[in-house]
Amino acid sequence: MKQKTHPLHPDISEDMWGKIDKIIASGKGIPGSLISVLRESQEVVGYLPSELINHISHGLVLPTSQVFGVATFYSFFSLTPKGRHTIRVCTGTACYVKGIKEAIGRIHGTYGIKEGETTEDRKFSLEGVRCLGACGLAPVMIVDKDIYGQVTSDKVINILEKYE
Ligand code: FES
Repeated sequence: MKQKTHPLHPDISEDMWGKIDKIIASGKGIPGSLISVLRESQEVVGYLPSELINHISHGLVLPTSQVFGVATFYSFFSLTPKGRHTIRVCTGTACYVKGIKEAIGRIHGTYGIKEGETTEDRKFSLEGVRCLGACGLAPVMIVDKDIYGQVTSDKVINILEKYE
């Protein structure tokens, strides 16, 4: 049987499609394999574009709605591209009172992103989280694995400029 041609997608190379097909083949017919197929495919591409979801649903012979449902249910799956660096700003009460909102506003003004968004050049993704458990350092921001306290709107851009 002629193999189905892969959907065209700027973020998925031929090589990636090859890996994805192997992942799908290893999960095909195995009950409960959908989550691991999605997780491994996301590791290959970095996120789950809709073309990839369609391809997985076709490959595993599952309804697309079911695959979309699982991909949107779990927070570790992303349907949009992620930046090279993830900025997590704490929107808990202590950080809110100490001015995280102004720092978030500065990030938005400089990079044009709100919570849940990624810059066009895919440098930064911005996420809001509730209380990072370091309220004594409020307002708190984590970039990748680096934690920053007393992040005022004056300091926030200087911190982010350190990231390539
Ligand atoms: S409220 Fe921000 S660390 Fe607790």
